[in-house]
Amino acid sequence: MTTTDVVTQRAIDVLKANDRGGYTIPTDGLYPYQWNWDSAISALGIAEFDLERAWQEIETLMSGQWASGMVPQILFHNPATGYFPGPETWRCDGPVPSSGISQPPVAVTAARLIWEKNPAQGRDRLNALVPKLRAWIDWYMAWRLDDQGAIFTVHPWESGRDNAPDWDKAMARIDTSGVESYTRQDTKHVNSAHRPTQKDYDLYVWLLQIGRSAQWDDAEIARINPFRVSDPLMTFITLRAVRDFLHISNELGHDTTSLNQYIETLEQGVQTLWNPDISAFDSRDTSSGEFSGSISCGSYLCWYAGVDHPGMRAQLQNALAVSKYPIASYNLNGEAFDPHRYWRGPTWPCMNLLIGLGLAERNVPEEPELRARIRELLATQGFSEYFNPIDGDPAGGKSFSWTAATWLYWARHDT
Ligand code: DGY
Repeated sequence: MTTTDVVTQRAIDVLKANDRGGYTIPTDGLYPYQWNWDSAISALGIAEFDLERAWQEIETLMSGQWASGMVPQILFHNPATGYFPGPETWRCDGPVPSSGISQPPVAVTAARLIWEKNPAQGRDRLNALVPKLRAWIDWYMAWRLDDQGAIFTVHPWESGRDNAPDWDKAMARIDTSGVESYTRQDTKHVNSAHRPTQKDYDLYVWLLQIGRSAQWDDAEIARINPFRVSDPLMTFITLRAVRDFLHISNELGHDTTSLNQYIETLEQGVQTLWNPDISAFDSRDTSSGEFSGSISCGSYLCWYAGVDHPGMRAQLQNALAVSKYPIASYNLNGEAFDPHRYWRGPTWPCMNLLIGLGLAERNVPEEPELRARIRELLATQGFSEYFNPIDGDPAGGKSFSWTAATWLYWARHDT
Protein backbone atom coordinates (compact mmCIF):
# COMPACT_ATOMS: atom_id res chain seq x y z
CA MET A 1 0.00 0.00 0.00
CA THR A 2 1.27 3.49 -0.85
CA THR A 3 1.08 6.34 1.67
CA THR A 4 -1.78 7.79 -0.36
CA ASP A 5 -3.68 4.50 -0.09
CA VAL A 6 -3.19 4.44 3.68
CA VAL A 7 -4.46 8.01 4.08
CA THR A 8 -7.34 7.26 1.72
CA GLN A 9 -8.37 4.29 3.83
CA ARG A 10 -8.23 6.48 6.95
CA ALA A 11 -10.48 9.04 5.27
CA ILE A 12 -13.01 6.36 4.35
CA ASP A 13 -12.88 5.09 7.95
CA VAL A 14 -13.68 8.60 9.27
CA LEU A 15 -16.72 8.95 7.01
CA LYS A 16 -17.95 5.46 7.93
CA ALA A 17 -17.46 6.07 11.65
CA ASN A 18 -19.47 9.31 11.39
CA ASP A 19 -22.28 7.59 9.47
CA ARG A 20 -25.44 7.57 11.59
CA GLY A 21 -27.55 5.67 9.03
CA GLY A 22 -28.62 7.81 6.07
CA TYR A 23 -26.73 10.88 7.23
CA THR A 24 -23.20 11.71 8.35
CA ILE A 25 -22.44 13.81 11.40
CA PRO A 26 -19.55 16.31 11.09
CA THR A 27 -17.73 14.81 14.09
CA ASP A 28 -18.63 12.83 17.18
CA GLY A 29 -19.31 14.89 20.35
CA LEU A 30 -19.02 18.47 19.09
CA TYR A 31 -21.53 18.14 16.22
CA PRO A 32 -23.77 15.10 16.72
CA TYR A 33 -26.51 15.82 14.09
CA GLN A 34 -26.78 16.38 10.34
CA TRP A 35 -25.35 19.75 9.24
CA ASN A 36 -26.40 21.06 5.86
CA TRP A 37 -23.25 22.05 4.00
CA ASP A 38 -21.12 19.58 5.92
CA SER A 39 -23.34 16.83 4.53
CA ALA A 40 -23.09 18.15 0.98
CA ILE A 41 -19.29 18.13 1.10
CA SER A 42 -19.23 14.77 2.91
CA ALA A 43 -21.39 13.36 0.12
CA LEU A 44 -18.68 14.23 -2.41
CA GLY A 45 -16.20 12.18 -0.40
CA ILE A 46 -18.65 9.31 0.11
CA ALA A 47 -19.29 9.25 -3.67
CA GLU A 48 -15.66 8.18 -4.09
CA PHE A 49 -16.41 4.80 -2.50
CA ASP A 50 -20.22 4.38 -2.29
CA LEU A 51 -22.34 6.25 -4.81
CA GLU A 52 -25.61 4.90 -3.46
CA ARG A 53 -24.81 6.19 0.02
CA ALA A 54 -23.77 9.58 -1.39
CA TRP A 55 -27.23 10.03 -2.94
CA GLN A 56 -28.81 9.04 0.34
CA GLU A 57 -26.86 11.77 2.15
CA ILE A 58 -28.41 14.45 -0.07
CA GLU A 59 -31.86 12.85 0.06
CA THR A 60 -31.82 12.75 3.86
CA LEU A 61 -30.80 16.40 3.94
CA MET A 62 -33.63 17.38 1.60
CA SER A 63 -36.11 15.40 3.72
CA GLY A 64 -35.84 18.23 6.25
CA GLN A 65 -36.92 20.91 3.77
CA TRP A 66 -39.61 23.29 5.03
CA ALA A 67 -42.78 24.11 3.09
CA SER A 68 -41.21 27.51 2.28
CA GLY A 69 -38.36 25.76 0.43
CA MET A 70 -35.79 26.53 3.14
CA VAL A 71 -33.41 23.66 3.94
CA PRO A 72 -32.26 23.92 7.56
CA GLN A 73 -28.70 24.27 8.78
CA ILE A 74 -29.11 21.43 11.31
CA LEU A 75 -31.45 18.44 11.23
CA PHE A 76 -31.89 16.83 14.64
CA HIS A 77 -32.92 13.41 13.29
CA ASN A 78 -32.18 11.55 16.49
CA PRO A 79 -31.69 12.65 20.08
CA ALA A 80 -28.07 13.28 21.07
CA THR A 81 -26.37 14.96 23.98
CA GLY A 82 -23.56 17.49 24.18
CA TYR A 83 -24.77 20.14 21.74
CA PHE A 84 -26.30 23.56 22.32
CA PRO A 85 -28.69 24.88 21.00
CA GLY A 86 -30.81 21.80 20.43
CA PRO A 87 -34.36 21.48 19.02
CA GLU A 88 -35.96 22.61 22.30
CA THR A 89 -34.22 25.98 21.95
CA TRP A 90 -34.94 26.50 18.24
CA ARG A 91 -38.61 25.39 18.50
CA CYS A 92 -39.18 24.90 14.76
CA ASP A 93 -41.90 22.75 13.25
CA GLY A 94 -40.51 21.50 9.91
CA PRO A 95 -40.83 17.86 8.81
CA VAL A 96 -37.72 16.95 10.85
CA PRO A 97 -36.76 18.75 14.11
CA SER A 98 -34.34 21.45 12.95
CA SER A 99 -32.77 24.84 13.39
CA GLY A 100 -34.58 27.83 11.83
CA ILE A 101 -31.90 29.13 9.46
CA SER A 102 -30.26 27.66 6.35
CA GLN A 103 -26.68 27.21 5.16
CA PRO A 104 -24.89 27.86 1.84
CA PRO A 105 -26.47 25.65 -0.87
CA VAL A 106 -23.45 23.48 -1.70
CA ALA A 107 -25.84 20.48 -1.86
CA VAL A 108 -27.18 21.64 -5.25
CA THR A 109 -23.68 21.50 -6.70
CA ALA A 110 -22.93 18.22 -4.90
CA ALA A 111 -26.04 16.68 -6.51
CA ARG A 112 -24.72 17.61 -9.95
CA LEU A 113 -21.20 16.32 -9.25
CA ILE A 114 -22.47 13.05 -7.80
CA TRP A 115 -24.83 12.58 -10.75
CA GLU A 116 -22.01 13.11 -13.22
CA LYS A 117 -20.14 10.16 -11.72
CA ASN A 118 -22.78 7.85 -13.19
CA PRO A 119 -25.55 9.74 -15.03
CA ALA A 120 -27.56 6.65 -15.98
CA GLN A 121 -27.61 5.27 -12.44
CA GLY A 122 -28.34 8.63 -10.84
CA ARG A 123 -30.99 9.92 -13.24
CA ASP A 124 -34.10 8.87 -11.29
CA ARG A 125 -32.64 9.99 -7.99
CA LEU A 126 -31.72 13.40 -9.37
CA ASN A 127 -35.11 13.76 -11.06
CA ALA A 128 -36.78 13.19 -7.70
CA LEU A 129 -34.58 15.85 -6.08
CA VAL A 130 -35.10 18.50 -8.77
CA PRO A 131 -38.32 20.10 -7.39
CA LYS A 132 -36.77 20.30 -3.92
CA LEU A 133 -33.52 21.83 -5.12
CA ARG A 134 -35.52 24.29 -7.18
CA ALA A 135 -37.66 25.29 -4.20
CA TRP A 136 -34.53 25.90 -2.13
CA ILE A 137 -33.00 28.13 -4.82
CA ASP A 138 -36.28 30.05 -5.16
CA TRP A 139 -36.32 30.51 -1.38
CA TYR A 140 -32.80 31.96 -1.43
CA MET A 141 -33.74 34.37 -4.20
CA ALA A 142 -36.94 35.40 -2.41
CA TRP A 143 -35.59 35.85 1.13
CA ARG A 144 -31.83 36.35 1.03
CA LEU A 145 -31.28 38.61 -1.98
CA ASP A 146 -30.26 42.19 -1.19
CA ASP A 147 -31.27 45.17 -3.30
CA GLN A 148 -27.97 45.01 -5.21
CA GLY A 149 -28.19 41.35 -6.22
CA ALA A 150 -25.93 39.81 -3.54
CA ILE A 151 -26.97 37.15 -1.02
CA PHE A 152 -27.04 38.18 2.62
CA THR A 153 -27.22 36.18 5.82
CA VAL A 154 -29.44 36.82 8.85
CA HIS A 155 -27.28 34.81 11.26
CA PRO A 156 -23.52 34.10 11.40
CA TRP A 157 -24.37 30.37 11.74
CA GLU A 158 -26.26 30.52 8.44
CA SER A 159 -23.17 31.78 6.62
CA GLY A 160 -21.25 28.80 8.01
CA ARG A 161 -18.39 31.14 9.05
CA ASP A 162 -19.64 31.72 12.57
CA ASN A 163 -17.10 34.13 14.04
CA ALA A 164 -15.55 35.55 10.85
CA PRO A 165 -14.31 39.15 11.25
CA ASP A 166 -16.78 39.95 8.45
CA TRP A 167 -19.57 40.25 11.01
CA ASP A 168 -17.72 42.28 13.66
CA LYS A 169 -19.01 45.73 12.72
CA ALA A 170 -22.61 44.61 12.22
CA MET A 171 -22.52 42.70 15.52
CA ALA A 172 -21.10 45.67 17.43
CA ARG A 173 -24.26 47.64 16.59
CA ILE A 174 -26.62 45.04 18.09
CA ASP A 175 -27.76 45.21 21.70
CA THR A 176 -27.81 41.65 23.07
CA SER A 177 -28.73 42.55 26.65
CA GLY A 178 -32.02 40.61 26.35
CA VAL A 179 -30.24 37.30 25.75
CA GLU A 180 -31.62 34.44 27.83
CA SER A 181 -29.34 32.38 30.04
CA TYR A 182 -27.81 29.35 28.35
CA THR A 183 -24.96 26.88 28.74
CA ARG A 184 -22.45 26.36 25.98
CA GLN A 185 -21.44 22.81 25.21
CA ASP A 186 -18.84 23.38 22.48
CA THR A 187 -16.07 24.39 24.89
CA LYS A 188 -16.53 21.09 26.75
CA HIS A 189 -15.33 19.29 23.62
CA VAL A 190 -12.55 21.54 22.30
CA ASN A 191 -10.12 24.22 23.47
CA SER A 192 -12.09 27.42 24.11
CA ALA A 193 -9.25 29.49 22.56
CA HIS A 194 -10.12 27.81 19.26
CA ARG A 195 -13.83 28.68 19.46
CA PRO A 196 -16.02 31.80 19.20
CA THR A 197 -16.01 34.05 22.28
CA GLN A 198 -18.80 34.39 24.84
CA LYS A 199 -19.76 37.74 23.28
CA ASP A 200 -20.13 35.99 19.92
CA TYR A 201 -22.38 33.36 21.47
CA ASP A 202 -24.57 35.99 23.10
CA LEU A 203 -25.21 37.44 19.65
CA TYR A 204 -25.86 33.98 18.13
CA VAL A 205 -28.41 33.15 20.82
CA TRP A 206 -29.97 36.62 20.71
CA LEU A 207 -30.53 36.34 16.93
CA LEU A 208 -31.99 32.87 17.50
CA GLN A 209 -34.41 34.38 20.02
CA ILE A 210 -35.45 37.00 17.45
CA GLY A 211 -36.14 34.34 14.79
CA ARG A 212 -38.04 32.27 17.32
CA SER A 213 -40.14 35.27 18.35
CA ALA A 214 -41.01 35.67 14.63
CA GLN A 215 -42.03 31.99 14.70
CA TRP A 216 -39.48 31.54 11.94
CA ASP A 217 -41.71 33.37 9.48
CA ASP A 218 -39.54 34.74 6.66
CA ALA A 219 -41.45 38.00 6.21
CA GLU A 220 -41.40 38.71 9.93
CA ILE A 221 -37.69 37.90 10.17
CA ALA A 222 -37.05 40.30 7.26
CA ARG A 223 -38.91 42.95 9.26
CA ILE A 224 -37.35 42.56 12.70
CA ASN A 225 -33.93 40.91 12.33
CA PRO A 226 -31.16 43.49 12.96
CA PHE A 227 -28.39 41.40 11.31
CA ARG A 228 -28.17 41.39 7.50
CA VAL A 229 -24.73 41.11 5.97
CA SER A 230 -24.19 40.38 2.28
CA ASP A 231 -21.51 37.78 1.94
CA PRO A 232 -19.23 36.81 -0.96
CA LEU A 233 -19.22 33.17 0.18
CA MET A 234 -23.01 32.91 0.18
CA THR A 235 -23.33 34.85 -3.06
CA PHE A 236 -20.70 32.77 -4.87
CA ILE A 237 -22.08 29.46 -3.61
CA THR A 238 -25.63 30.44 -4.57
CA LEU A 239 -24.54 31.63 -8.03
CA ARG A 240 -22.73 28.33 -8.54
CA ALA A 241 -25.79 26.41 -7.33
CA VAL A 242 -28.06 28.19 -9.82
CA ARG A 243 -25.63 27.54 -12.69
CA ASP A 244 -25.47 23.84 -11.77
CA PHE A 245 -29.21 23.64 -11.37
CA LEU A 246 -29.74 25.23 -14.80
CA HIS A 247 -27.38 22.63 -16.29
CA ILE A 248 -29.22 19.77 -14.56
CA SER A 249 -32.59 21.15 -15.68
CA ASN A 250 -31.48 21.45 -19.29
CA GLU A 251 -30.00 17.94 -19.29
CA LEU A 252 -33.05 16.33 -17.69
CA GLY A 253 -35.70 18.45 -19.44
CA HIS A 254 -37.03 20.39 -16.43
CA ASP A 255 -38.48 23.90 -16.28
CA THR A 256 -35.78 26.57 -16.42
CA THR A 257 -38.01 29.63 -15.93
CA SER A 258 -36.24 32.49 -14.09
CA LEU A 259 -32.92 30.67 -13.80
CA ASN A 260 -31.09 32.82 -16.36
CA GLN A 261 -32.50 35.90 -14.67
CA TYR A 262 -31.25 34.65 -11.29
CA ILE A 263 -27.78 34.15 -12.77
CA GLU A 264 -27.74 37.63 -14.26
CA THR A 265 -28.86 39.18 -10.96
CA LEU A 266 -26.24 37.31 -8.93
CA GLU A 267 -23.49 38.08 -11.44
CA GLN A 268 -24.27 41.77 -10.96
CA GLY A 269 -24.52 41.20 -7.20
CA VAL A 270 -21.03 39.74 -6.87
CA GLN A 271 -19.53 42.79 -8.56
CA THR A 272 -21.09 44.99 -5.87
CA LEU A 273 -19.06 43.04 -3.29
CA TRP A 274 -15.76 44.10 -4.82
CA ASN A 275 -14.01 46.35 -2.32
CA PRO A 276 -11.34 48.39 -4.16
CA ASP A 277 -9.78 49.48 -0.86
CA ILE A 278 -8.61 45.95 -0.10
CA SER A 279 -8.68 44.70 -3.69
CA ALA A 280 -10.85 41.69 -2.87
CA PHE A 281 -14.44 40.50 -2.73
CA ASP A 282 -15.71 41.54 0.68
CA SER A 283 -18.86 41.39 2.79
CA ARG A 284 -21.14 44.41 3.19
CA ASP A 285 -23.58 45.36 5.93
CA THR A 286 -26.90 45.94 4.14
CA SER A 287 -28.03 48.54 6.71
CA SER A 288 -24.96 50.80 6.69
CA GLY A 289 -23.68 49.88 3.21
CA GLU A 290 -20.25 49.63 4.84
CA PHE A 291 -17.74 46.98 3.73
CA SER A 292 -16.17 44.75 6.39
CA GLY A 293 -12.66 45.15 5.02
CA SER A 294 -12.15 41.41 5.25
CA ILE A 295 -10.24 39.20 2.81
CA SER A 296 -11.60 35.78 3.71
CA CYS A 297 -11.70 32.29 2.23
CA GLY A 298 -15.09 33.35 0.85
CA SER A 299 -13.38 35.98 -1.31
CA TYR A 300 -11.54 33.19 -3.16
CA LEU A 301 -14.74 31.36 -4.13
CA CYS A 302 -15.13 33.60 -7.20
CA TRP A 303 -13.73 30.91 -9.54
CA TYR A 304 -16.09 28.31 -8.02
CA ALA A 305 -18.91 30.64 -9.11
CA GLY A 306 -17.43 31.03 -12.60
CA VAL A 307 -16.13 34.55 -11.96
CA ASP A 308 -12.49 35.43 -12.64
CA HIS A 309 -10.84 38.59 -11.38
CA PRO A 310 -7.24 39.82 -11.89
CA GLY A 311 -7.27 41.30 -8.37
CA MET A 312 -8.15 37.92 -6.87
CA ARG A 313 -5.40 36.24 -8.94
CA ALA A 314 -2.94 38.59 -7.25
CA GLN A 315 -4.46 37.77 -3.83
CA LEU A 316 -4.12 34.05 -4.57
CA GLN A 317 -0.44 34.39 -5.42
CA ASN A 318 0.08 36.40 -2.26
CA ALA A 319 -1.75 33.81 -0.12
CA LEU A 320 0.53 31.07 -1.46
CA ALA A 321 3.57 33.26 -0.72
CA VAL A 322 2.72 34.28 2.86
CA SER A 323 1.53 31.03 4.40
CA LYS A 324 2.59 27.46 4.15
CA TYR A 325 -0.97 26.16 4.32
CA PRO A 326 -3.32 28.52 2.45
CA ILE A 327 -6.09 29.53 1.89
CA ALA A 328 -6.67 30.78 5.43
CA SER A 329 -10.16 31.66 6.58
CA TYR A 330 -8.95 35.25 7.08
CA ASN A 331 -6.06 37.19 5.61
CA LEU A 332 -2.82 36.75 7.59
CA ASN A 333 -2.13 40.50 7.43
CA GLY A 334 -5.64 41.44 8.54
CA GLU A 335 -5.93 43.18 11.92
CA ALA A 336 -8.30 40.53 13.35
CA PHE A 337 -6.11 37.58 12.31
CA ASP A 338 -5.84 34.81 14.91
CA PRO A 339 -4.29 31.55 13.66
CA HIS A 340 -6.21 29.48 16.23
CA ARG A 341 -9.71 30.88 16.48
CA TYR A 342 -12.12 29.11 14.17
CA TRP A 343 -13.00 31.37 11.17
CA ARG A 344 -10.62 34.20 12.14
CA GLY A 345 -7.46 32.70 10.66
CA PRO A 346 -7.25 28.90 10.58
CA THR A 347 -7.19 27.06 7.27
CA TRP A 348 -10.27 24.94 6.60
CA PRO A 349 -9.51 22.19 4.07
CA CYS A 350 -13.20 22.01 3.05
CA MET A 351 -13.05 25.64 1.85
CA ASN A 352 -9.90 24.84 -0.08
CA LEU A 353 -11.74 21.99 -1.75
CA LEU A 354 -14.38 24.41 -3.10
CA ILE A 355 -11.76 27.03 -4.00
CA GLY A 356 -9.67 24.32 -5.69
CA LEU A 357 -12.60 23.00 -7.74
CA GLY A 358 -13.18 26.48 -9.10
CA LEU A 359 -9.50 27.01 -9.86
CA ALA A 360 -9.24 23.65 -11.65
CA GLU A 361 -12.35 24.28 -13.74
CA ARG A 362 -10.96 27.61 -14.93
CA ASN A 363 -7.43 26.25 -15.43
CA VAL A 364 -5.90 28.68 -12.97
CA PRO A 365 -2.23 27.60 -12.82
CA GLU A 366 -1.94 27.88 -9.01
CA GLU A 367 -4.42 25.04 -8.38
CA PRO A 368 -1.90 22.12 -8.34
CA GLU A 369 0.27 24.00 -5.84
CA LEU A 370 -2.68 24.69 -3.54
CA ARG A 371 -3.77 21.06 -3.76
CA ALA A 372 -0.23 19.84 -3.02
CA ARG A 373 -0.07 21.96 0.14
CA ILE A 374 -3.40 20.64 1.44
CA ARG A 375 -2.42 17.09 0.47
CA GLU A 376 0.74 17.36 2.54
CA LEU A 377 -1.19 18.92 5.44
CA LEU A 378 -3.82 16.18 5.60
CA ALA A 379 -1.38 13.32 4.99
CA THR A 380 0.79 14.46 7.91
CA GLN A 381 -1.76 15.98 10.32
CA GLY A 382 -4.93 13.94 9.77
CA PHE A 383 -8.52 15.04 9.38
CA SER A 384 -9.08 17.73 11.98
CA GLU A 385 -11.67 20.47 11.58
CA TYR A 386 -9.13 23.24 10.82
CA PHE A 387 -5.41 23.98 10.98
CA ASN A 388 -3.00 26.77 11.85
CA PRO A 389 -2.15 28.25 8.42
CA ILE A 390 1.44 28.97 9.46
CA ASP A 391 2.64 25.72 11.04
CA GLY A 392 -0.20 23.31 10.18
CA ASP A 393 -1.07 22.53 13.81
CA PRO A 394 -4.47 20.77 13.91
CA ALA A 395 -7.32 22.40 15.89
CA GLY A 396 -11.04 22.09 16.63
CA GLY A 397 -12.83 18.76 16.31
CA LYS A 398 -10.96 15.60 15.29
CA SER A 399 -11.95 13.00 12.67
CA PHE A 400 -13.99 15.51 10.75
CA SER A 401 -16.17 14.30 7.89
CA TRP A 402 -15.74 17.15 5.44
CA THR A 403 -11.98 17.18 5.96
CA ALA A 404 -11.85 13.47 5.12
CA ALA A 405 -14.08 14.15 2.10
CA THR A 406 -11.68 16.88 0.96
CA TRP A 407 -8.94 14.30 0.85
CA LEU A 408 -11.00 11.77 -1.06
CA TYR A 409 -12.53 14.09 -3.61
CA TRP A 410 -9.64 16.45 -4.30
CA ALA A 411 -6.47 16.62 -2.21
CA ARG A 412 -5.29 13.03 -2.72
CA HIS A 413 -4.90 13.47 -6.49
CA ASP A 414 -1.35 14.40 -7.34
CA THR A 415 -1.63 14.85 -11.10
C1 DGY B 1 -21.85 25.56 15.97
O1 DGY B 1 -22.75 25.28 16.74
O2 DGY B 1 -20.69 25.82 16.31
C2 DGY B 1 -22.08 25.53 14.54
O3 DGY B 1 -21.01 26.03 13.82
C3 DGY B 1 -23.35 26.11 14.10
O4 DGY B 1 -23.53 25.68 12.77
